[in-house]
Amino acid sequence: MGRRFEGKVAVVTGAAHGIGKQIAFQFASEGANVVIADYNQEQGAATADEIVSSYARCLFVKTDVSSYSDMEAARKRTIEEFGKVDILVLDAGVAFKNRFQDISLDEWNRTLSINLTGLFTTVKAFIDDLVVSKGSIVYISSGSAASGTGGGVSYPASKAGGEGLIRGLAKEFGPQGVNVNAIAPRLIDTGAMMRVNYPTQEALDAVLSKIPVRRFGTTEDVANLTLFLADKANSYIQGQTILLDGGRTVA
Ligand SMILES: NC(=O)c1ccc[n+]([C@@H]2O[C@H](COP(=O)([O-])OP(=O)(O)OC[C@H]3O[C@@H](n4cnc5c(N)ncnc54)[C@H](O)[C@@H]3O)[C@@H](O)[C@H]2O)c1
Repeated sequence: MGRRFEGKVAVVTGAAHGIGKQIAFQFASEGANVVIADYNQEQGAATADEIVSSYARCLFVKTDVSSYSDMEAARKRTIEEFGKVDILVLDAGVAFKNRFQDISLDEWNRTLSINLTGLFTTVKAFIDDLVVSKGSIVYISSGSAASGTGGGVSYPASKAGGEGLIRGLAKEFGPQGVNVNAIAPRLIDTGAMMRVNYPTQEALDAVLSKIPVRRFGTTEDVANLTLFLADKANSYIQGQTILLDGGRTVA
């Protein structure tokens, strides 16, 4: 059997590190050419080098998703290098933990500019190419869009906004053959973002006891579902947000 994404081009924002990096690796391992759009020059270039040495072609473009001109430049480099775009993964994001009374307007604006406006700029830059390829968009949201978090409202507000955007795009571009869906992960152990919410071992143990599958999620869990949703074999799934939480929410 051939590799699932042979000859496809996947653009992944936030792929220098964490979940996005794993998604980029899995697309490459299944035959896709990958573009990493991330504002972390050092880690982005290192991830691209790793992918090139293990798999096929990979391009790193230093990009701040909150800047439309950066996204336009990333799109231009992608087309120069690969000639098309089949898959767009919206992974880049930041999280702050401040409670409402402590959130400054600067923090609010920064979260929204990366996590929400960053989706708008990215889709705006690539949507015409995705219409041509009849491609797929997968947005990495968060379970907190529906549940809120123990601390911090700017992050869940940005993710809930992103899910609204995704549903609108699914309606508008579905008739043109573009699939648009979201994943809402909870408690994925990237060693970074989760510790914003659970800073001590005690706090981590307490939450683990509430997850029915008795483990934290992995970056592979998110990447597996991302590839599933990007795969046109599953194109009857449209405009959905799929909760990926080991059963935490039903528990
Ligand atoms: N880790 C979790 O438990 C979890 C849970 C739910 C949702 N998520 C979501 O998954 C996504 C990835 O999270 P992660 O845990 O891998 O975090 P991470 O911090 O490891 O990775 C985020 C990546 O996004 C990049 N990035 C941040 N701001 C950017 C910007 N303005 N422009 C371009 N790139 C930017 C970073 O450089 C980094 O490579 C995020 O959208 C996050 O909200 C994570």
